[in-house]
Amino acid sequence: MKYKLKGVKKLEGIVNISGSKNASLPILAATILNGKKATIYNLPDIKDVKTTLKILELLGCKVDKKKNKVIIDSSNMDKYTVPHDLMRELRSSVILAGSIIGRFKRAIFSYPGGCEIGARPIDLHIENFKKIGINIEENAGYIVCNCDKIKTAEVHLEFPSVGATENLILASILSDAELTITNAAMEPEIVDLQEFLNRMGAKVYGAGTNCIKVVGVKRLKEVSYTIMPDRIETGTFLAMCAATSGNLELKNTNYNHIIPVLDKLEEAGCKIEKDKNNIYIEAKKRLRAIDIKTLPYPGFPTDMQSIFLGMLCNAKGTSVITENIFENRFKCVPELNRMGAKIKIEGNTAIVKGVRRLTGTEVRATDLRGGIALVIAGLTANGYTKIENIGFIERGYEKLETKLTKIGASIYKER
Ligand code: UD1
Repeated sequence: MKYKLKGVKKLEGIVNISGSKNASLPILAATILNGKKATIYNLPDIKDVKTTLKILELLGCKVDKKKNKVIIDSSNMDKYTVPHDLMRELRSSVILAGSIIGRFKRAIFSYPGGCEIGARPIDLHIENFKKIGINIEENAGYIVCNCDKIKTAEVHLEFPSVGATENLILASILSDAELTITNAAMEPEIVDLQEFLNRMGAKVYGAGTNCIKVVGVKRLKEVSYTIMPDRIETGTFLAMCAATSGNLELKNTNYNHIIPVLDKLEEAGCKIEKDKNNIYIEAKKRLRAIDIKTLPYPGFPTDMQSIFLGMLCNAKGTSVITENIFENRFKCVPELNRMGAKIKIEGNTAIVKGVRRLTGTEVRATDLRGGIALVIAGLTANGYTKIENIGFIERGYEKLETKLTKIGASIYKER
């Protein structure tokens, strides 16, 4: 499938922000821990969520999904192997390892493999699983995890990996051990996971700081939970508005989760107002160039990097964007340059010399956030832009064409 877009249109109106993709995935994984029903609200209707639900069904869970609500009943779950083809489809399915081990004290999964934005190894997951008493063997491309008992341990993460932090928490919830993680990732999605787990009767403390403690419990109860808003979708619509000199109101979001993004938008010349669940943005004129460095939370998010790259192609002056988290997150640059952008890569830095106007042409998405960067470029370009491989974009954005059409964009999906 392709997107066909026609620029240049100002985006104006109201956007309802969906539930967070990156919070949904670990929370869906965590639902299997209670061995009962879990009801999740505000689940985004996106491909990554569908794949995760498919894996849960294959593991023996009953999944009942209606629009943005899902009931997962894991009482008859009887399998602990994540099939290789689905593991490949969704790298973050590695997060299921922690909760399958938590439930059955064993799990089998394959290496998630390389991915479009970099090598993404899982050494931190494996190394620290071992420290909490999980035996790990590799067999014919599969990682076989077994453990008699989760051990009390203090683990220090060499890098604050989001996935490794979540996996360690999930593995130790049902135990009689105590786990302390230092240099833990501090992302808001980990706070959401903690709230979900504690709502089920778990004892997790400290999420949102770099020291997290889990006190194991014997059993968990049924739970209902509403997923937090997607901070990256929020940032995406803000960037789209900024790039098109538009004017938007974003509803059902949380500005506290994207402070560095808001600061950078203001530095680029946008006017921003916010209240509890809403953000208002007005971008009257051509953006000013800005510099960005990605960092673990609370720094500027790596997931927003390509999005800002797309936004800054038309800015006045030269922007310097440094990527410190993933090694291969500039894959959309040759495509943006085909549209007339002037971006040069030097190591982990992209130097973006702003041009007056991009020109629409045929381009190809190579990853989720790089793909949406092309949509942003297309919104600001003269003429038509055709974006191929939109499967990447659909992994993470709910009803993108519908939401964009409602605020004035011309975007269609075609075969
Ligand atoms: C999560 C997010 C992703 C986001 C990223 C960083 C989900 C589903 N995905 O990914 O959107 O971009 O956090 O905010 O929540 N690393 C290792 N060894 C490991 C684990 C990670 O070297 O065992 C490296 C990775 O290659 C990468 C860096 O650490 O360079 C960050 O990875 P991590 O924080 O684990 O990201 P994910 O959890 O995969």
